[in-house]
Amino acid sequence: MATTVGKAGDIAPGQVAPFSVDGKQVAVANVDGKLYAFSDICTHMGCQLSDGPMSGSVIICACHGSQFDVTSGVVVRGPAWMPLETYTVEVAGDELRLEPVVVEEEETQPAATPAAAPSRAAPAPPRADEAAVVDALSQVPMFSGLSHEALENLRAFTFRRAFKSGDMIVEEGRTGNGLYVVLSGRVEVVKGIPAGRPQVVATLGPGEPFGEMALLGEWPRTASVRALEDTECLGMDRWVFMHQIRREPELALNMLQVLAERLAKTDERIVE
Ligand code: FES
Repeated sequence: MATTVGKAGDIAPGQVAPFSVDGKQVAVANVDGKLYAFSDICTHMGCQLSDGPMSGSVIICACHGSQFDVTSGVVVRGPAWMPLETYTVEVAGDELRLEPVVVEEEETQPAATPAAAPSRAAPAPPRADEAAVVDALSQVPMFSGLSHEALENLRAFTFRRAFKSGDMIVEEGRTGNGLYVVLSGRVEVVKGIPAGRPQVVATLGPGEPFGEMALLGEWPRTASVRALEDTECLGMDRWVFMHQIRREPELALNMLQVLAERLAKTDERIVE
């Protein structure tokens, strides 16, 4: 039976609001004017999802960065791998009513083995060797001086992405979302591709970061980065960094140091 929880008009597009249905925490998100309801408990370690930001139809857990598509409950990005329970949304007048979606079992099927059990989301792929990820993070100037524990915390917020030789990883002029660190392989940093005058300004290998400035704001990338061979990178989104900076003031100090070095280099170039 549907439970009335509040007023539909109180949830503006792009917003998410928490409710309680039969003692369960449920969140309702407004995606482009349509309401979707889902369990407000992250399936990774139980944080409240409605505390996190929304991006389109995706909600991001504020604890360790799991991402879920609120229209279906599926996991878009780990560390969570179990989908969210979803609810049917009814709007009568302005009254918002929610009812759990009942997932029907197939009667004639033999008992499913764990491997054959139906699942709305594939388990997350195994993560890179965790020590190697922490090691890669420790080599990023911005993260230098952070305790092992702090680096471990950061590791939980990272994602990995593989690129084929020749793939463009970031493009000059496009808005960037965050930082990458090369885990394996090699990349080249190229300026001037949009203007038709490409110039390779650096090549980077394992442990070397690029795109740090995108952690601070939505600025266009100042150069393109292309994989010179099959390459795996570690990534961190801006919102994760901003969230962490509130917990680790050391990060803010390191970022200031990185910015100061960049300014000094710019000054040198101007003087030359
Ligand atoms: S509790 Fe949500 S990602 Fe860990």
